[in-house]
Amino acid sequence: MNKKSVLSGIQPTGNLHLGRYFGAIQNWVALQKQYDCKYSIVDYHAMTMPFKPTKLRQATWNTVFDLLACGIKEENLFIQSYIPEHTELAWVLGCMCSHGELSRMTQFKDKSQQIKDTDKSAFLSTGLFTYPVLQAADILIYKASKVPVGGDQDQHLELTRSIANRFNTVVGVEYFIMPETLHSKTPKILSTADPSIKMSSSKGDKHNIDLFAEPNRIRKQIRSAVTDSGDVPRDQMSPGVENLFTLMKAFAPGEKYRELLAGYRDGSLLYGELKQKVGDAVVNFTDPIREKRQEIEDNKRDYKKKIKESSAEIRKVAQQTLREVKE
Ligand code: TRP
Repeated sequence: MNKKSVLSGIQPTGNLHLGRYFGAIQNWVALQKQYDCKYSIVDYHAMTMPFKPTKLRQATWNTVFDLLACGIKEENLFIQSYIPEHTELAWVLGCMCSHGELSRMTQFKDKSQQIKDTDKSAFLSTGLFTYPVLQAADILIYKASKVPVGGDQDQHLELTRSIANRFNTVVGVEYFIMPETLHSKTPKILSTADPSIKMSSSKGDKHNIDLFAEPNRIRKQIRSAVTDSGDVPRDQMSPGVENLFTLMKAFAPGEKYRELLAGYRDGSLLYGELKQKVGDAVVNFTDPIREKRQEIEDNKRDYKKKIKESSAEIRKVAQQTLREVKE
């Protein structure tokens, strides 16, 4: 009881690859021990960019199943659109946020540019503009004190606090607490096919290793990782080799990692062996997660029912906040 509350959201877009797993999900799983956590699949946020309804519905459930397989507890997980109070609170908060503030959001500027670049006549939705207000509602409706997100979300969190402040000032009560950003140190995993860019879904299949991929595919991707011709001084590493060590450290920290590192430094380690060991480490780690994912896939209906129930349970908290806000 009375644990501090954590809230975060993830968009149901793209697959869950190793970079995303270590960048966010692993941390979300760990936080469950210490905090009262709520994690949302933000399907309404995913509608702000061009989307296909059937695909979005599928992606939403797939993300639910992926997160469950990784160890997010079902009672901590909900689908944003199942809790209409988020959008209702977003209306109230939208009236506490200026047009100018939203215009200054760099994510809005970047994404609208991205849309214009793909097609000049493309549709730029109002939802993309008001996106951060819905995000503020996601957070404030649960009076979350900690919000684990990447650095790209700092500006949205800053805005959330200024909206909360304005609300408090307007009503004359310190009603909303100020949510804090929770940054954790996470390994930065690069594309094995091109270690000059981050691992990512949007750049194509070869630029990400899917957490749920078959072991053979994972090994193959790691075997074909870009390295160097071996002429790099032993006290340095090329980006590709460093990335393999980053993976090793993430998946098998400790003894095995240190042995390989020593082998690199004294010049006895062949890249073929390094790749083999990294492949083993990744597959060892992902095996049980992939099996769990399969078990969930085979019992989809039960899991959907559970998530509908947890969403209904979490909704009660949102309803209470909205009642208080209206009062
Ligand atoms: N904007 C976040 C992202 O793109 C997703 C998000 C939506 C979120 N609502 C949230 C994150 C509430 C934290 C809290 O990553």
